[in-house]
Amino acid sequence: MKVLIKKSKGFKGEILIPGDKSISHRAAFLGSMASGFTEITNFLFAGDCLSTIRCLQNIGVDVKREENNRIIIRGRNLYSFSEPKSILDAKNSGTTARFLLGLLSGQSFFSIITGDSSLQKRPMGRVVEPLRKMGSWIEGRNRGNNLPLAIQGQKLKGIKYKIPIHSAQLKSALIIGGLLSDGMTALEEPLPTRDHTERMLHFLEADIKKQGGLIRIRGRNRFKGGKIIIPGDISSASYFIAAATLIENSSIHIPNIGINSIRIGFINTLKKMGGKITINEKKTICNEPVATLTVSSSNLKGIEIKPDEIPTLIDEIPLIALLAAQAKGKTIIRGASELRVKESDRLKTIVSNFRKMGVEVEEMEDGFIIEGPQQLKGASLQSFGDHRIAMTMAIAGLLAEGKTEIENFSCYKVSFPDFYSILQKWENG
Ligand code: S3P
Repeated sequence: MKVLIKKSKGFKGEILIPGDKSISHRAAFLGSMASGFTEITNFLFAGDCLSTIRCLQNIGVDVKREENNRIIIRGRNLYSFSEPKSILDAKNSGTTARFLLGLLSGQSFFSIITGDSSLQKRPMGRVVEPLRKMGSWIEGRNRGNNLPLAIQGQKLKGIKYKIPIHSAQLKSALIIGGLLSDGMTALEEPLPTRDHTERMLHFLEADIKKQGGLIRIRGRNRFKGGKIIIPGDISSASYFIAAATLIENSSIHIPNIGINSIRIGFINTLKKMGGKITINEKKTICNEPVATLTVSSSNLKGIEIKPDEIPTLIDEIPLIALLAAQAKGKTIIRGASELRVKESDRLKTIVSNFRKMGVEVEEMEDGFIIEGPQQLKGASLQSFGDHRIAMTMAIAGLLAEGKTEIENFSCYKVSFPDFYSILQKWENG
């Protein structure tokens, strides 16, 4: 699908954002590993989470869809999954593939995981290597670094492991492996990454302890399912937070958004740049903080983002580049080399699209420098099959003089299927 986007005159009103992608994946996986039933409300019915559901169904999990984005999962009590008859396809979803590696390593059967051409290029060795230390048998392309990967389930044993990469997917895959192992697993995280897995396990009363950067998981950790309510996705909300900030005559409020401290680096950065954003009606739902956000048009100034802030805004960096292009002065981002192994090499794909719109960006190995403000010109752009690039460039299109065209746009549906219908409200604004 190719899309054509026109300059926006602004938008005022309420925006409703669907459920959080990261938390939806975790609810499906942990609900499947629990005993008894888990009811998940506001589950994200988007491509990536549907990949998780389909793979779980293929290993014997019963999933019933109810009205209002609710699903009910019958848990398999850690080990009662069944051997899949065919290859498990995670499609574009890194979270699905990496969590499955943890789950399947500790079962008693053989399975194979694959993914689409983007996911087949992404590194899996970071998960495979520590799982092998736990006793897992995984083989595949590039010595087990790339999908497709084959897993012969084993009896796992707990390990002590210092996580070398700032990745919540890696951490969570090892927590899942740890739940299935004999003995204790102790994981050390050098910098905090999103902690939804730990919070949800705590909510479901599993035996997991966190102290600073140390996480301890008891093995053979049986826990009961429960009722999980998923907050709106802050990463999806960020596209329209950026639009409301950058487009004159805009003012929006967004209810029911997850504001977990390790997910709100984008909001903190926007505030430091001079953005008018407030967080109201704070409450805690299923051990996750939730709030209503109010945003209006603002003038921004450039900022320097430090490497230790990166995990709190990793998925929003393409949008920060857009804020930076509109802000007065220099914005510098360093320590973001993980962007090179996302759904696309996001440093390269941001720079390539921005240059087409007439925006100068200096690309570095681990980040970029942008000096603003710079006028965006409508152009013919590529999504590179990457949902976050497609959506960022669509917001850029609302700001640009002239028309913007984005090829292969429909990939936004892997995380935010309502994105385009909300975007159209801004075009008519
Ligand atoms: C995610 C973790 C991050 C993030 C991804 C979702 C998760 O990836 O970029 O969109 O749900 O745990 P990494 O773990 O690779 O940093």
